[in-house]
Parts: sequence; structure tokens; C-alpha cells
Amino acid sequence: MEPANQTSITVGHIVVFGNEKGGCGKSTAAMHAVVALLRMGYRVGTIDLDARQGTFSRYIANRFYGNNQRNKGTPVPRHMGVMQSLAPTLKERMDDESSNFFAALEDLTRDNDFVVIDTPGADSHLNRLAHRFADTLVTPVNDSMLDIDLIADFDPETGNVRGPSVYARHVMQIRESRRKELNLPMRWIVMRNRVSPLNTNNKKDIGALLTDLSSRFNFQYIPGFTERLIFREMFSKGLTLLDMDGAETGRGLTASQMSARQEVRHLVHAIVPEDMRIALMKRKRESAVQQTRNSTKSA
Ligand SMILES: Nc1ncnc2c1ncn2[C@@H]1O[C@H](COP(=O)(O)OP(=O)(O)OP(=O)(O)O)[C@@H](O)[C@H]1O
Ligand SMILES: [Mg+2]
Repeated sequence: MEPANQTSITVGHIVVFGNEKGGCGKSTAAMHAVVALLRMGYRVGTIDLDARQGTFSRYIANRFYGNNQRNKGTPVPRHMGVMQSLAPTLKERMDDESSNFFAALEDLTRDNDFVVIDTPGADSHLNRLAHRFADTLVTPVNDSMLDIDLIADFDPETGNVRGPSVYARHVMQIRESRRKELNLPMRWIVMRNRVSPLNTNNKKDIGALLTDLSSRFNFQYIPGFTERLIFREMFSKGLTLLDMDGAETGRGLTASQMSARQEVRHLVHAIVPEDMRIALMKRKRESAVQQTRNSTKSA
């Protein structure tokens, strides 16, 4: 029989947080998803393709440092950064970046259930590579028509949707080529971020619009994260609300923190494929059986 912690799971599911729009919450959402997956018991590797800005890498470095100093036992992912190449020619830069990206991917997919990739908010060779390898793409959008404009193209006279806009077209092309060339599907999740806690008309309108776009462009739309201090205030400690005392049970959390926790859970529920949920349950059960066997033997 396999050792308990080696039970096969669909290994190396690649989750990319991407949107050509900067500042929409890719790094924030990625970090919260990573911590949630780790705490559920998945093995997680992470790649920062925005290593020059380095938000994701610093978040993880802060977490790693805190893990050694303050918060012993806080789960940390195995992390790698891939820098944009500074080679003199475009061809050399693309070759460098491809080989560094594939090396990181190969290393991390080997022994992790998930590899979570944070990307920069601009079109680039590295960004395209990551999108091509996304088994699941998560696109955060702020509650603003400026963000939605990268997904849908609107008729300026009527306001009707004419078709996909620049980013959605790009995703749909990649999805099609993955299907044809690699025979692999790509799931696409669009999540709102920094949603107003107030029930404004804008909030309702954007919700209705994204629901409509989800069926036109074939993505799963989820309500995402509300604008909350808790999503940003623990960065320097490398922590998230899921690391707070009582995060498991909810005891001691404020109403806003409880809602935030629910929002993260909802995101992760959308990310984890059903077969991996089942495989994790199996792994945990086998591990419990093994522990019981070991303790019976030593008793
Ligand atoms: N739900 C939220 N509530 C409050 N603040 C948030 C929320 N989501 C993100 N932020 C804040 O918004 C800013 C942008 O978020 P973040 O850095 O995650 O975006 P990004 O898409 O990764 O940006 P970039 O394209 O520059 O990499 C940060 O200051 C972050 O703390
Ligand atoms: Mg970022």
C-alpha cells in the first residue's frame, strides 16, 4: 500500500490569477487562495511572474519570516519567482523567460497538488505563457466599468454588448488553442473585488452585467471580495484572516471577518475541482488510518 501521505491526487493543478488590468486584486486574491488551500491540507507551490514588483513574493517572504519568528506552524507554500529577462534581443528574452518558467513549473507541479501563479497586470510573454498553462484562470475585476471594459466591448450608442473585449478575446483564443493543441480544458472564474458593502445601484448593475457576460463568454462568475480592511492589513506579517485565532471555528471573529472568511471559502470552492476534493478526503482518511495503526503498534 502507498504511504499515507503519498496518495495520488490530480497533481499540479495550475491556477493563474490574471487580468491585464493592474491593481484589481490579483496578488491579494492569490495569497488568500493559497493560504486557504494550505489550511485545507493541499500541497501548494507558488510562482510570482511579477517578480520585479514582487508583491506576492514579499507576502510569502513575510509569512516565511513570521513563521520562523512569531507564528510557528503557519503553513507556507514552496515559492519561486520568475523575472522578466534583460537579454539583448527579443528572441533571447523570450527563450530565457520560457526556460525559467518551465523549470519553475516542472519543479513545483511534481510534488504539489496546486501551483498558484500571480501575474503582472500587463500583456507580456511571461503573462501569455502562464495563461496558456492555466487549468483554472481567476480574473478579479473591480466594480467599475473601466475594469469590465477589458472583458466586454460595448456599443457606445446603445450600451449593448458587441462581443468580447481585448482581455476576454485573448483568454478565449488561448482556451481554444489549449483545447485543440493540448486537448486540455481551461476553467475561467471571474470574481468581483473591492465590492462596496453598500447596496448601490451600480453594485446591482455590475452583478447583472457579469451574470449576462458569464453565459456569453463561458466563465463562472462569483461575487468575490467586499472592500475590507482585513484583506490588506496583514500583508506585512504575511498573514491572512484565515490565520487568525478562531478562523476555523469563527469564534472571536467580528461579523465582517466572518463574512470575509466566507468570501474566501467561496473563491476556493470555485477553484478546487471535484476530483481533487474527493482525493483530499481519501488522503486524509488514509492518513488517519495510518496514524491509528502506528499508535496501536507502539501501544
Ligand atoms: N477586497 C479588498 N479590500 C480592501 N483592499 C483591497 C482588496 N483587494 C485588494 N485590495 C488592495 O488593493 C490594492 C491592489 O491590490 P493587489 O496588489 O492585490 O492588486 P494586483 O492586481 O495584484 O495589482 P498589480 O496589477 O499592480 O499587481 C492593494 O493596496 C490591496 O491591499
Ligand atoms: Mg499584483
